[in-house]
Order: sequence, then structure tokens, then C-alpha cells
Amino acid sequence: MTEFEMIAKTFQGLEEILAKELIDLGANGVAIGNRMVSFKGDKALMYKANFHLRTAIRILKPFLHFKADSADDVYEICRKVDWEKYMDLSDSFAVDSVVYSEDFRHSKFVAYRVKDAIADYFRDKYGKRPNVSVANPDLTFHIHISHDDCSLSLDSSGESLHKRGYRQEAMEAPLNEVLAAGMILMSGWDGKCDFVDPMCGSGTIPIEAALIAKNMAPGLFRSHFAFEKWKDFDRDLFEEIYNDDSQEREFEFTIKGYDKDPKAILTAKRNAKAAGLLDTIQFEQRDFKDFEPVKERTVIITNPPYGERLVEDNLLGLYEMIGERLKHALIGGEAWIISYHYECFDKIGLKPSAKIPLFNGALPCELRKYEIFDGRYNDFRGGDRRLKKDDLPSRRSGTLRHKARLAEREEARKAEKPSRKPEERKPFHKSEGKKPFHKSEGSKPFHKSEGSKPFHKSEGSKPFHKSEGKKPFRKTENKPFRNNKK
Ligand SMILES: C[S@@+](CC[C@H](N)C(=O)[O-])C[C@H]1O[C@@H](n2cnc3c(N)ncnc32)[C@H](O)[C@@H]1O
Repeated sequence: MTEFEMIAKTFQGLEEILAKELIDLGANGVAIGNRMVSFKGDKALMYKANFHLRTAIRILKPFLHFKADSADDVYEICRKVDWEKYMDLSDSFAVDSVVYSEDFRHSKFVAYRVKDAIADYFRDKYGKRPNVSVANPDLTFHIHISHDDCSLSLDSSGESLHKRGYRQEAMEAPLNEVLAAGMILMSGWDGKCDFVDPMCGSGTIPIEAALIAKNMAPGLFRSHFAFEKWKDFDRDLFEEIYNDDSQEREFEFTIKGYDKDPKAILTAKRNAKAAGLLDTIQFEQRDFKDFEPVKERTVIITNPPYGERLVEDNLLGLYEMIGERLKHALIGGEAWIISYHYECFDKIGLKPSAKIPLFNGALPCELRKYEIFDGRYNDFRGGDRRLKKDDLPSRRSGTLRHKARLAEREEARKAEKPSRKPEERKPFHKSEGKKPFHKSEGSKPFHKSEGSKPFHKSEGSKPFHKSEGKKPFRKTENKPFRNNKK
């Protein structure tokens, strides 16, 4: 099959993990950019990318690159596109735009001009125009402009790929599924030891962990991908990819999800049931302060309240308790905690062995790794098991902007005299002590020549081993339901 260019979009900080996923999937020419990874592959790879990638939010297929420095130029060029290659008069469509250019101040206006061009193309030919649908278009086109470089793409995903299809309900402040999966893959956890999220809310982290442990595709539960409405959709090829469970594997350890809130546990169970994973994850209502010492090697990955969307009565006390429990109950294990306030991390009172900048929505957060040893941490670091650079997940220089913003926020916090503790400013207001994050900040165009670097397997984060020692299996009761299946 012919290979073509594709773009996988993701969240800032997850680019390397996504590149690794793409290489494992068989993509060629993988190059990392800002919040995106470009790659090459055939139609089968495009279907697989949508179905299998855990850290992509959408897959675009560029079909036209051109130069323009005004919305009118864009209109004129788009008028000449043979739109019937992609859609019929009876198809509804939408146009998305992302613009980083002084010449194009209003990205929405550019999108309107592309819509006009498509409508006028059909009107000239048939005296009628296709419908625009914002909510549920048959096709979504994407125009990306950086300076005067423009790219038109087809969106092959439709709804963002973080919408796996298993979420029945969410508690407040649920973690995005793509971010949850990214955190787990970054940790290197591959299902070879026990796993706990002691503050699991609606269960996103344990569910993503179970999908990873069993190597189940995150796209199994989606009812639809945009490419299924494309003119060149190859149903047999997609069915073959969808039904290939040969890479799935058995999981021999435990995944536990705890939360002090009984409603969270109910919600988490409902979501796990929708993913056919209720037998794989043990959910239980439990306060983290009652977390008992682990008997086997255990990895904790968790997303405690930050005091932003979820208000906690004693936020610093909570983090102090987390540190105390990790120190006494997780001996020999490791914990990965995503949070937002330095004060909270400080209260954990343990020395992190890695700090990875990540965005949770608009919040610049950090994912910190704590290794819990029996003995003093410094003794350990000086001992035989000295940490090597390769043991740590890489910290990309591309995240310097993020670091600068964190440092700026820390400076602003120090400048507040006397320093106010998080619990004294309940609830936190988004505008306090930090710059809001604007979509246009820190993002780069997705032109391959600019801002992207080729990805080599040896670079960056710890490898995630997919296929060691597993037998493929599929329990029939776990088979998800697909609308379009016989
Ligand atoms: C930010 S939410 C987690 C969201 C979750 N990752 C999701 O995707 O839905 C934090 C959770 O911590 C829980 N929590 C707070 N304090 C706790 C404690 N002491 N023990 C256990 N759970 C706690 C809250 O009930 C809440 O569900």
C-alpha cells in the first residue's frame, strides 16, 4: 500500500512516548514536534494509529501544503482543490483551524474562508452546497497555518481519541485518558508487578493500566472513527485490524483502585465494567491513610487533588499523609504523583528521583517519581544500585518553557509576603500566582522541517516492553460492543 504523511497530535510532554508508540506500531520517518509527532505509513497504519495509540489525541492526514499570507489567498487556493476526491455534495463537513501567524489574526476567519471555498466549489458545479455540521460532521478538514505555511488535512479520528468510549460517568476533575496512559507508559510499568492508584476517582488510571497490562487497544470501545466515512474506507482492512487480538496478553499481577469517596468507587466500577475490566481491577472504598504495607513490589501512579478543581479541607495535610504512607507502606516500590503546587510536593517530604513537566489541561503540572527504599535514600544513591541516567525518564529541553513558567510562578509565590499556604487560600483561583496558559503559547507548527527532530529508539524514555512472555487470549464476555458489527 502507498505510504503518506500523517500527523499525530498529543499533549505537551507526551511527544516522546507517542513517538515510541508509533515506532512500535511500524511507522516510518517518525519526527517529534511540539504537541505532535509526524510520521509516514499506509492506510493500515492510519487505522492502527487511531485504534492502538494510547497517547495520541487525533491523527491528521495532510493532503495539500501551500503558501499564503491572507485569508483571501487561502480561499483562492482552496477553491481550486478537487473536493470531490474527499466528499460528496450529500456529506456534511466542518473545518477546524490552528493558526500561528501575524498575518492571520483570526483563526476562525480562516476556517470560514475554507468553508466558503468548499461551498462555492460545489455550488459552481451543482448549484447547491453541502451542509456544514459542527456537532456531527461526516468529514472534518483541518487547516494549519504557521507564518505563511499552510497545510490542509483530513481529520481521520473525529472525536478526540481520549474519548475511548468506556467512560460512563465521571467524578469531578477526571484525568484525561491520554494523559493517564502517558503517565503509565512514562513510568515504564508494563504489567510485570502490582499496581495501585490509591486516589482513583472515576478509575481512569487503573483502567488505562489494565488496558496496557493486557495490551488491549484503547480504541476497542469507540463506536466510530472519522475515517469510516471516508470515500476510500476499506472496511475489510479495518475489520481485520479490529478483530486481531493476537497481541493481547494475560495479566498475572493485581491492579487496585482506592478512593475515600464511595461515589467515586461506584463510578470507577461502572467505567471498568464498560471496558470489560471489572474482573481485572479491584476497586475498594479506602482512605489512603489506611493504606497497608505492600507485600509484593508495587507501583503507585496517582493524581491527588490539587485544590484547583477539587477543594480539599487540608490539602497540605493530605500530601504530608501521602509522604508518610509511601515511606512506610511502599518499601521497595515506586510512586509517580502528578500535582500542581510546589508546596504540596514539598509536604511529601521525600526526594524525587525524576520530575517530568506535564500539562493537565491548562495547568502546568509535574509528574514526580519517588523510589522507596528500606534505608536512607542517600545511602541508596551511593550504593551498588546507583541510579543511572538511563534509569530516569528523559526531560526534554522542549519543556524549558514549561519550567520557566513554573519558576515564574514560584518567584511570584515567594514574592507574596507573608507567604500564603495553599490551604489558606481556599479555594484556589486559577488566576492566582500564575500566568494563564494560552493555546497559542509555546506551540510550534507541524511542518516537518521546523521544530521537529527525528526520533531514535534509543533516545528518551524507558522502553515499554509490549510482548514479553504473554499468551494472547480474549474472554468472550470482555468483547466490546461495536455498533457497526454484524
Ligand atoms: C483529582 S481526583 C482523581 C481523579 C481520577 N484520576 C479520575 O480520573 O477520575 C482525586 C481523588 O482523590 C480522592 N481522595 C482525596 N483524599 C483522599 C484520601 N485521603 N484517600 C483516598 N482518596 C482520596 C478524591 O475523592 C478524588 O476522587
